[in-house]
Amino acid sequence: MLAVPLIAAQRVSKQFGGPTGVLALDGVTLDIRPGEFVSLLGPSGCGKSTFLRCLAGLEKPTGGALTLAGAPIARPPEQLGIALQRDALLEWLDVLDNVLLPADFGGRVQQKHVDRAMELLRMVGLGEFLHHYPRALSGGMRQRVAICRALLLDPPLLLMDEPFGALDALTRDQLNVDLHRLWLARRMTVVFVTHSIVEALFLSTRVVVFSPRPGRPVDDVVLDLPEHRLLAMRETPEFGVYARRMRAQFEAMGLIHE
Ligand SMILES: Nc1ncnc2c1ncn2[C@@H]1O[C@H](COP(=O)(O)OP(=O)(O)O)[C@@H](O)[C@H]1O
Ligand SMILES: [Mg+2]
Repeated sequence: MLAVPLIAAQRVSKQFGGPTGVLALDGVTLDIRPGEFVSLLGPSGCGKSTFLRCLAGLEKPTGGALTLAGAPIARPPEQLGIALQRDALLEWLDVLDNVLLPADFGGRVQQKHVDRAMELLRMVGLGEFLHHYPRALSGGMRQRVAICRALLLDPPLLLMDEPFGALDALTRDQLNVDLHRLWLARRMTVVFVTHSIVEALFLSTRVVVFSPRPGRPVDDVVLDLPEHRLLAMRETPEFGVYARRMRAQFEAMGLIHE
């Protein structure tokens, strides 16, 4: 790992609606290094999406400093990959053309893009569906297409905001496996928002727990788990220790009680 952070947040805050409005983030200090897979784990409304939107250049912090590769984020960075809960596929384009969209925007679809799109689609089990239209796909297949699209141009940074939140539990497991395989192959930096403890632990090299609003990191754990993740890892004692630690955070915040 390089010593230089890719993302550096110094006491970042975000207040919506002026001084009397909603303080969504307060004092977010966080460095993310190239190649890390960092999950931001926190309750609904704690500002996770707001922080991701600041990273994407879609919102501006109202306080503190936020840099990407050493430079302030003034507009959406070039070559950024984004995947959201809603897959935002274009219904009138087939699977392959949906994945090729980022190259098409630049007016430069080349054979290498087509090859890359097909490789990505094969890696997530959609090699046979290149010319299907989104309406003929299940929710899980659609989300796979959206992830392939986000990865087409090999972005050094991939931002994901609860991309699997709308999927059933089994499909979500499969998508976790698929995303992990893609990450192992490319080692892009990923910032992944979720409120699932299990999903965060399965996918990440590091988990940052956010407090309720105004959100700020209250725990930050680099996971000492096998590099190559298998679903069965979720039943190991090591995994259980981390899961209990995360659950204890939520209990301490008063968000879970038994
Ligand atoms: N554009 C906006 N204008 C006003 N308030 C907003 C806006 N976006 C988010 N908020 C508020 O900021 C807080 C954090 O929202 P969000 O970042 O979406 O939380 P999370 O993604 O963790 O659920 C919430 O109280 C939300 O209502
Ligand atoms: Mg959100």
